Amino acid sequence: MASDRLPPTRGYAPLPSRTSAIGRGDPRLRNRAPPRCLTTAGSRRPIGRHRGSRGGARTSWRALPAGSCSRRAARGRGAAPPQGAPARPRPAPHRSTRGHRPLFLGGARRAPPGAISADAAWMEPAAAMLSCWGAVLGAAVSVPLLLLAAAPYVRRYVAGGRCRSAARLDGKVAVITGANTGIGKETAKELARRGARVIVACRDIIKAEAAAREIRAETDNQEVIVKKLDLADTRSIREFANSFLAEEKELHILINNAGVMLCPYSKTADGFEMHLGVNHLGHFLLTFLLLERLKQSAPSRIVNVSSLAHHGGRIRFHDLNGEKSYNRGLAYCHSKLANVLFTRELARRLQGTKVTANSLHPGSVHSELVRHSFVMMWLWRIFSFFLKTPWEGAQTSVYCAVAEELESVTGQYFSDCQPAYVSPWGRDDETAKKLWNVSCELLGIQWD
Ligand SMILES: NC(=O)c1ccc[n+]([C@@H]2O[C@H](COP(=O)([O-])OP(=O)(O)OC[C@H]3O[C@@H](n4cnc5c(N)ncnc54)[C@H](OP(=O)(O)O)[C@@H]3O)[C@@H](O)[C@H]2O)c1
Repeated sequence: MASDRLPPTRGYAPLPSRTSAIGRGDPRLRNRAPPRCLTTAGSRRPIGRHRGSRGGARTSWRALPAGSCSRRAARGRGAAPPQGAPARPRPAPHRSTRGHRPLFLGGARRAPPGAISADAAWMEPAAAMLSCWGAVLGAAVSVPLLLLAAAPYVRRYVAGGRCRSAARLDGKVAVITGANTGIGKETAKELARRGARVIVACRDIIKAEAAAREIRAETDNQEVIVKKLDLADTRSIREFANSFLAEEKELHILINNAGVMLCPYSKTADGFEMHLGVNHLGHFLLTFLLLERLKQSAPSRIVNVSSLAHHGGRIRFHDLNGEKSYNRGLAYCHSKLANVLFTRELARRLQGTKVTANSLHPGSVHSELVRHSFVMMWLWRIFSFFLKTPWEGAQTSVYCAVAEELESVTGQYFSDCQPAYVSPWGRDDETAKKLWNVSCELLGIQWD
């Protein structure tokens, strides 16, 4: 019985065929029936020699019906030599190098196609692993190299348009809201560099003074003046306007830049929802109060910093203060749409005054705007490479404020220093008029 157990073999050492010289004497085959054709349990007859998977010729038994099977076999590897053809010499069985037991390569248990010997079996996974590691290493080296090569092009694309105008602003007066940081500070710097007298209008005087010092030092322009302005409080806006009108005889450029985004629900001192109150109503009132000075100083320009986010905004006249439902992302979008509509209506009303009004999208800028959202702050940090720097973000504001070719262009919306697409809601004149009237009502002013 013990002799019937298969000894461990290296490589494919299938059972020898019953009919082979060695197989006939093999005790393991003593009780084994010859293999049968699975399709037809018909006559059994030898179909001759054919090659095993290793090329060793042998004779095997196939049970074949007299008809088609044998013809197919004759065409294939189990074909018997045609009658009269010289019989192929029977090859000597392959002998094991380790013992006396002969090993038949190929046989009743045939090796699957592509099978390799056990000697080489360990090499296949090793080779696969090597090639896998090769691919990983190749990617690890080539991807950073590719990114490195592409980085300057990506940066140039992200930076967007640049203001090419070299216009000087000597003797001109500019007011910029929210100029202590981000886009506003860079805009103020650029105008100061061109020789303008710049009023930095900010709610935090300490931050504003620090920014003003930096601007003066970098531009060599000492005419950078700090004034307090809190757009979340109409009293502060009126105080700023009174102070400005008392001290400044001219105003050539008003840049309504300050803004808040993603604030948790809160209200301004006058009870307006924060986004609407600061981003739209605050600037609406400021512009109203300074408009006469702008008209007297014409040609003059009003630049409203809006956003691409205006595409997601709607003016919800039934719930302007978000008391029935509030979403801080949408609240920002609504307020930025209000900027676009305000600009449109203002431009229409200022026709013939030589005071122009345009709005713009500065781009996605790495600034403090996302300070109210922890997630956005981290996203802004991680993807800062793909965001504009504040200086790049200021380019469209500067373009709208100084470009000679925009002298008489009004009521437009710009992005990357060129006209950009306005959402259908931003082009709705009826909504713009209605918003104008509602804003006047909310602020208690009469502006015809
Ligand atoms: N960054 C962008 O990706 C992006 C994209 C589209 C549009 N924008 C628009 O660009 C403008 C500038 O944003 P930014 O990116 O430069 O943001 P920022 O760095 O946060 O600057 C916002 C400025 O607004 C001021 N501000 C906020 N609330 C104010 C208030 N109640 N009264 C007076 N000033 C107030 C801030 O003053 P404090 O520092 O004292 O808070 C700050 O100076 C905003 O109108 C924003 O909507 C920005």
